[in-house]
Amino acid sequence: MSHRILIAYASRTGVTAEYAQILAQASAFAADSVQVLKMQDVRDLDGFDAVILGSSVRFGQWLAEAQKFVEGHQAALAQRPTALFTVHDLNRGDDAASRVQREAYLVKVRPLLQTRCEGFFVGRTDTARLNFFERLLTRMIPQENGEPASPQTLQAWAQTARTVLFS
Ligand SMILES: Cc1cc2nc3c(=O)[nH]c(=O)nc-3n(C[C@H](O)[C@H](O)[C@H](O)COP(=O)(O)O)c2cc1C
Repeated sequence: MSHRILIAYASRTGVTAEYAQILAQASAFAADSVQVLKMQDVRDLDGFDAVILGSSVRFGQWLAEAQKFVEGHQAALAQRPTALFTVHDLNRGDDAASRVQREAYLVKVRPLLQTRCEGFFVGRTDTARLNFFERLLTRMIPQENGEPASPQTLQAWAQTARTVLFS
């Protein structure tokens, strides 16, 4: 069965936007109608059967515009199956401490939502797109080694998300 899915994202340097596009083009959604929109460009959720929300992390939290989106659309989100994905650079390990830390990125939005599926994807720091202050800050934070999420990782999550959203 075909579904109408909204992927709404919040992104500062384009990484989450790029991941949202990869998810939308995943074969998991080949039979669906998927629209990708920046959260600020979403007026309402009418016409969508399910929603996937994605935000990057700054200072230990989802971006402010993503939190605002969840607050503003809380009632409409409660009426639709919802999945979340988070794009971050730190706390990427498989150990319990890293998991706890990255799950804490959602501490403000999770109580407002009944999500069926949460994904965490390693992003990347695009220094050229940061301002002076942000560059300074990222130099002060110890960066973790490793690669950003691969398209295959994102596509595999798309498959899981679709199954869970419509089960
Ligand atoms: C100023 C600043 C603060 C950040 N704070 C965090 C953080 O607290 N935890 C984390 O895991 N990543 C943090 N990041 C990394 C971003 O989440 C990551 O680079 C992401 O890929 C950016 O995606 P975007 O271009 O969609 O915004 C920070 C990046 C910047 C520039």
